[in-house]
Amino acid sequence: MSDTTTQSSSSPEPRPHFHAANHGNLPPVSNQLLGCEDLDVYYGAFRAVTEVDLEFNRNEITALIGPSGCGKSTLLRSLNRMNDLIDGARVEGTVNFMGQNIYAKGVDPIEVRRRIGMVFQKPNPFPKSIYDNIAYGPRVTGMSVSSMDDLVEESLTKAALWSEVKDKLKAPAFGLSGGQQQRMCIARTIAVKPEVILMDEPCSALDPIATMRIEDLMHELREDFTIVIVTHNMQQAARVADRTAFFTAHAEETTGNRTGVLVEFDRTAEIFENPKDKRTEDYISGRFG
Ligand SMILES: Nc1ncnc2c1ncn2[C@@H]1O[C@H](COP(=O)(O)OP(=O)(O)OP(=O)(O)O)[C@@H](O)[C@H]1O
Ligand SMILES: [Mg+2]
Repeated sequence: MSDTTTQSSSSPEPRPHFHAANHGNLPPVSNQLLGCEDLDVYYGAFRAVTEVDLEFNRNEITALIGPSGCGKSTLLRSLNRMNDLIDGARVEGTVNFMGQNIYAKGVDPIEVRRRIGMVFQKPNPFPKSIYDNIAYGPRVTGMSVSSMDDLVEESLTKAALWSEVKDKLKAPAFGLSGGQQQRMCIARTIAVKPEVILMDEPCSALDPIATMRIEDLMHELREDFTIVIVTHNMQQAARVADRTAFFTAHAEETTGNRTGVLVEFDRTAEIFENPKDKRTEDYISGRFG
């Protein structure tokens, strides 16, 4: 893909840094790195997601929330062409990354997935050592790496795991706790130097302490990356996200099929304190979903 924009982590400009407490003072959307327009996602004839427009800003965390089955995972996977790997899945509309449609002819999906990485609900270490898990991506993508040891250390440090594993890098990754495995998977994603990290309920298999560590980590990662997170935990969205998109499933008039639609997208504080749509209000107040 052509790199037309300066990558945020290498930008010499000091970037504003927003903490959770500043949710209400964010600038308007203006710093878009990734976005989708008129996005429909189908599984065969079934349209799982309908006409979604969203913009994701550099160095922000955006949360996708909504009831089960409203298409959050489907949408998330369409943002880095992960749906290509699912039989029958088809995307219509555009997903723009740095001004380029990732579904355009000639775009390499492997390169898309390197630059827009993904962390899954359940930690999925490879049956390899911790070191080899982190080095795997750089090796298979043929990244030019001056020192793999340094890259492994840097990635594990950024994922807040280095101090816990530095003396057992050659031990199997399966020996780590669930929370450590998830941070290792984040380190593995970071190692190939993506711009965006997509996270699909990354804390749902973790206890509250491991969850807090991941949330703290997300705040640190926001300095270098743009993050999109799916979460069922509304407190989590309120704690970590700069912006929140609320989805629901509604019945299509013609077929009666339930399809996912974007109801409201705004700064997180607005969504939780001053929702504009009754459906958002009902959901966040626990009356639905
Ligand atoms: N591989 C697939 N093949 C066919 N239909 C699918 C597939 N994956 C998801 N769907 C359907 O698409 C719709 C959206 O599913 P999706 O998993 O994206 O929802 P979700 O919002 O992530 O739900 P949850 O909160 O339960 O994870 C659902 O109706 C689901 O049954
Ligand atoms: Mg899901």
